[in-house]
Amino acid sequence: MNKKLIIGNWKMNMNESDSYTFFDEIKKNNNHFVHEFAIIPPAPLIISIKKYLKKNNINNWVKIGIQNFYPKDKGAFTGEISIKMFEDNTLDYLLVGHSERRLFFNENNQFAIEKALYALKNSNAKIVFIFGETLEQRKKGNLENIIKEFLEKLISEITFEDLERFIFAYEPIWSIGTGKIPTIKEIEEIFLIIKEILKSKFKGKDVNISKLIYGGSVNEVNYKLFLNSNLIDGLLIGGVALESHKFISILKNE
Ligand code: 13P
Repeated sequence: MNKKLIIGNWKMNMNESDSYTFFDEIKKNNNHFVHEFAIIPPAPLIISIKKYLKKNNINNWVKIGIQNFYPKDKGAFTGEISIKMFEDNTLDYLLVGHSERRLFFNENNQFAIEKALYALKNSNAKIVFIFGETLEQRKKGNLENIIKEFLEKLISEITFEDLERFIFAYEPIWSIGTGKIPTIKEIEEIFLIIKEILKSKFKGKDVNISKLIYGGSVNEVNYKLFLNSNLIDGLLIGGVALESHKFISILKNE
């Protein structure tokens, strides 16, 4: 099995001591990891987690990201977080466009694109651009339009070199936390649409420099189904990323 990218999104879960226990387990098991990984903790934990990783000499290889940020350096934006609040290169991954941000905080493609473009200019982090359809949209069968809606606009604003910074994460909304998953063929079809759109913009270039990952009800049993596909470069995991033994079992490809 090729090395894949496994991203654990903790959402609004875990506290400082839970997170230390989690990383203690990661440290104990890391010799056996097959896949690379990143953890996306709640923002208030990031600085203390970074210190903990350093103290335990695992800061070089444990990658950390942020679930949300506001696309400005600083200013009068009460309650918001700037990526400039973190030391240079502290954040390895930035999530953009998660359906929970869209659903509960009215974020749309336009804002997700604004965040992604800001992140390109103002950090070195990889940008995980998340998209996916509701059950209703799925029934209508307009998945291609959903992809085009953000991707064509986004890539009209970036260069081919920027593409390497992007990870496109397909997370069907009906699959998040429900135990329901699409077929591998369905995911592959989506990823082929993305590749075609990228190829038509960046003619003759190798668009595989951006990664395509899947998220939604991935667990320690079904993950291999996804990872066996050559088109799927990795996984974005919610619930199961909160349980270190399950997450570690995926990293070990057990
Ligand atoms: P679950 O793995 O809990 O379905 O969540 C997926 C997700 O939203 C990750 O960002």
